[in-house]
Parts: sequence; C-alpha cells; structure tokens
Amino acid sequence: MKKFVILLVTSFAISYGYSQTRGIGDSVFIIPRPVSFTLQKGYFILKPETAIISAGKNATDVSSFLSELLHENYGFSIKNNREKNLSAKSFISLSINKSANKLIGDEGYTLRVTAQKVVLSANTSKGLFYGIQTLMQLLPPKYNGDVQTKINRFHIPCLNITDYPRFGYRGMMLDVSRHFFTKDFIKKYIDEMAKYKFNVFHWHLTDDQGWRIEIKGLPELTKVGAWRVPRTGRYGTFQEPQPDEQATDGGYYTQDDIREIVNYAKQRFIDILPEIDVPAHSLALIASYPNLSCTQEKYAVTPQYSPPDIDDVLCVANDSTWLILDKIFTQVAELFPYEYIHTGGDEANRSFWMKDPKDVALMQKEGITKPAELQSYFEKKLEKLIISKGKKMIGWDEIVEGGLAPEAVVMSWRGMKGGIEAAKQGHEVIMTPILETYLSRKQGDPSVEPFGPGLLRLTTCYQFEPVPDGVDPKYILGGQASTWTERIPNYRHLEYMTWPRAMAISEVLWSPKSSRNWNDFARRVEQHFKYLDADSVKYSRSMYDPIVTAVKAEDDSMKIELTTEMPGLSIYYTFDGTDPDNFYAKYSRVPLDIPKGASEIRTISYSHGHVVSRQINYLLSDLKKDLEKKKNQ
Ligand code: ACM
Repeated sequence: MKKFVILLVTSFAISYGYSQTRGIGDSVFIIPRPVSFTLQKGYFILKPETAIISAGKNATDVSSFLSELLHENYGFSIKNNREKNLSAKSFISLSINKSANKLIGDEGYTLRVTAQKVVLSANTSKGLFYGIQTLMQLLPPKYNGDVQTKINRFHIPCLNITDYPRFGYRGMMLDVSRHFFTKDFIKKYIDEMAKYKFNVFHWHLTDDQGWRIEIKGLPELTKVGAWRVPRTGRYGTFQEPQPDEQATDGGYYTQDDIREIVNYAKQRFIDILPEIDVPAHSLALIASYPNLSCTQEKYAVTPQYSPPDIDDVLCVANDSTWLILDKIFTQVAELFPYEYIHTGGDEANRSFWMKDPKDVALMQKEGITKPAELQSYFEKKLEKLIISKGKKMIGWDEIVEGGLAPEAVVMSWRGMKGGIEAAKQGHEVIMTPILETYLSRKQGDPSVEPFGPGLLRLTTCYQFEPVPDGVDPKYILGGQASTWTERIPNYRHLEYMTWPRAMAISEVLWSPKSSRNWNDFARRVEQHFKYLDADSVKYSRSMYDPIVTAVKAEDDSMKIELTTEMPGLSIYYTFDGTDPDNFYAKYSRVPLDIPKGASEIRTISYSHGHVVSRQINYLLSDLKKDLEKKKNQ
C-alpha cells in the first residue's frame, strides 16, 4: 500500500513538471500570477540532499521557514547552511540583494531555477518570503501520508520569475464579533492568507454581537460584552435575549493571545489592522457600560442585528465616552505594532443623537446643523486621539459624509463612491466594495448555496478593479476581501466562503491589471484545489455549477441559456423532471427552446466524462418571473 502511495506522489511530481497546458507557463499554476515569467527547458530536482544556502541573518530566518515547510509537507530534513558551505551539488540559495533592485521594491523577489540550483533574491526578507510562497506553488501539494516515508524527488521546471505587487495594501478582513473564532483558527486563517501574498489582516474585533479584546481596567467588556445568548438556525429569525437568560455564547482574546497572534502574523509578514467599531455597532460596549449611550439604558448583547429602537451609538457629548475610548485605544495602540487603527464609523443611527439633549446642546455650541456633521465632529476628535497614540486612523466611507478628519484613510465599502470622493480630497483609500469583495455573499446559485445575502461569483471578484477611472492611483493603497460572519457560525464554513474567491482578490491586488486572464486564472484555481484538499481547507466549487439564465427571443418567447464560470465544461439538461447525466441532451451554446408542457429544467456539468458540478434545477415559472423583473428594471 505504501509503495503505491509513493509512486502516486512521485508521478504527480513528474507530471507537474511536464504537463502541457496553455497559460502563464505550461505547467505552472502560480496564484497570484507573477509579473514576469519565462519557462525554460529542463527541471531542477529537489531531493533530501538538496541544501538551502542563505546569506545573512535576515535570509537565514526566512530560509528556516522554507526548510520547515519542506519538512512538514514532504518529510524532507534539509539543513540551512551559511553561504560559505557551498559543497552541495544541488542547492536553493536565498539572498538579500547587496544593492537594491529598484524594480522589485520592498516586497518583490526574483526566482531563477536551473537544472543545478534555485536562486531566490530580494531586497528584503519580506520579498524572500513571497519568493518562498511562489516556490512552494512550483512543488506538489503537501503529502498527507506518513512523511517519514521516502518520497525523494520533486521536479521544478526551469524558469525565471521577476515579481512584485501592484498594491501595498492587500487585505483580508474577518469579523470575529458576529461569530467568535479561536486563536488557533485565526492562525490557520493567517497561514492561508500568507500563501496568497496578502499582507494585512483586518481584524474586526468589536460589534453589536460581541466584544472580543481584553482591555485592562475595563473588565465588563469581557465579562458582559463578549457573551450573548446562544442561538442557532437562520440569522434574522432569532429570539432576542429573554429576561434572566444566561449569555453563554462568545469568547474573547486575552492580551497575551493578541501578542501571540501579532507575532505569528509578523513571522508571515502580515500586519494586523485592529478595528474597534465606533460610534455605532457599539452595543457590546454599551451593554458593558450603559452610561456611554444616548439613552443610557441597560441593553443585552444581541445575537443578531439589533432592532432599530435599540441604541447602539455612543453619546458624543458624554465625557465618559472619551475617557473609555482613550483607555481602549491606548491599549490597542500598544498591542498592535501596525501604523494604522481602524475605528469603524459605519451605519450610525444618528437619530439617537438628535433625541439626546446633551448631543443637541453640543451641536448648538459647535454650530453644527446636520447629524452627519456631528459624526464628523466625533471622527475628528477621535482622529486626534488616535494620532496622540502614534497611529493613523482608518474609517469606513461614512466618515466622508459631514467632512473628513484631516488625515483619515477611507475604507470604501458602499461601492467605490466614498473612496472616489476621499481620493479627490487628497485622502488615501482602501477599496472593499460590497458587490465585488464581500465574501459573506453567496457565490453560486441560491438553490444550492447556504443562506446568505446577495451574490458574488468568483468571476465578479476577479473583475474587481480597485482604481476607478479618473482617480489618481497614488491615493489607492489597495483593496481587501471582507468577510462578515453573521451567517458563518463555524470555521469550516468560513473556509468555504473564503476560497477560491480570496485567490481572485489576491491576483487583483498583486498582479498587473494587464495580465488578468480569466480562463488562465480558472485553470490555475483548479490546480489550487489540490493544495486546499491536501491542507484540509474547505472551498467552494461553485465555478463548475451551471448558471441558468432566461432570455427573451425575438418572437418574445422565453429561451434558456446555460453556462458555467469554468470554461470548457459540458452541460447536460432535462426538461422532463428527471435528473440529467452525460447520457442526456448536451447544451450546445445555443439558447434552448422550451418544449411544450415543460415546467422545469434540471442541469449538471461534466469535465472529461466526470460530473464536476452540483445539479441546478429551476422551475420555468420562476425563470419567467426573473425575466419579467429584468424587463421592468
Ligand atoms: C459595513 O459593511 N457595514 C462596513
């Protein structure tokens, strides 16, 4: 049995080195796509005798990462050697450039593979780290058998790569308030981010549904704010907390946990952007300290969106608001070395301020006439506080309304508009528009996807363009995939929602716009499913599913188009209520006439004679309704 497995892995390695498919470089499947790439004849053979040679401490630190990966993935025990020990016949060398290669900047690298050696160079250890991620994608997936078994050679095609990112901010946001994810899961998430060269983990630590960070001197935040009543099922239908009901669902990160995670991320060259969402989305804070809200009422942490009559905004005029914010942000600034802190600012129900005598008096005193201007007053005061802690402030695009704080960076989520406006005013911007980057949205046909808001297909993620027409690119720091977890109750489902869409965003943020090529990307994603399988990471295969669309023919009758995101699949269908397979009618890229009497269509897709999709069924009456809706739009 063992022998069979060894053969399988070795033959995968060989076919990996030689298979001829069209794309960025025949047998190469790197995501995000490198800037420049030339494939050459021949291959380097990686074997346990291969040496890793690194010059200088910075390179050695990163090279130990490589040797650990080779050990973990394939059982290789390769020692790191300093430069002088050059006796090895087969080696991988890592070095920091003595004089900087301007083209590749702080995050880029060059990778040269010849039959004798692999040479990885960069200006920084971060660049070397990204080069290692690329190198790992030239090797087969992790071997999940007994790594002590001798799998002793892998073929890496000879090639030259020069690579560097398009944007300096390549983020992934995770909401840990709506559902809490343990420290170990956060580390796993960071590991997966690093493989796709993301460099910022935006950690949404607080919201109405839970406060997740220990703040010394404010014990109620983690005694009260971190816990809510347990509910399961369909989000939005949950019963509000009942009197005397125990709040047992939740959790938080201690300051030690946070330091550990920050350090873990740092070793993977990922900065952590902490978010404390104020002045709204603050119910967990208010449940802990009721004197902070306009109404001063005692509320419980909510298991779902708070009803509109529950006040989740901080009272701007209240001194205790500012005392507590000072305490919180002092500690947040100490815990997180990243130069930015995200202070939220989204979706404030400003009507509470208008009903609060203290806030109304403040508005009169400051000559403020509109509620949005009171939020602007809040944000400007908050920015001063953040700057006094040595940090820069990032806020959601609502902070543009009513006047921006002087140095604030805007994270644009309600489309690109807020970001465009901020850039026009000379502010820096991070783009995470809801319709293109919110991974909490469904990624395939609603009939087969778990319940969730809206639709965001992989192709749409891949088309995301962070720099809008007419905006000076120098203001666009980058973009982000954002995941809200109201309907993501466990880590396995989080993975399903994340992959492969985050791969598409990684390519958008790293690779040149001019090199984007959907068909080539889709072929690479398919290979990456093997890595995810080997790493036991769940992912969505929605790109194989048939997409059923009703179209209107010239004679006004309804016809049906079938397609898939993945190119080159065969789609089979039935109109007679039976389940199709590849013995049924095959779609031929011409819209289908609907046979008389048919009431439904069932579809499925195949690749090379194997079923690859889920079955997608539609009642024709529903398709007709969709068509009518489109007509009326
Ligand atoms: C947001 O989605 N409310 C930033």
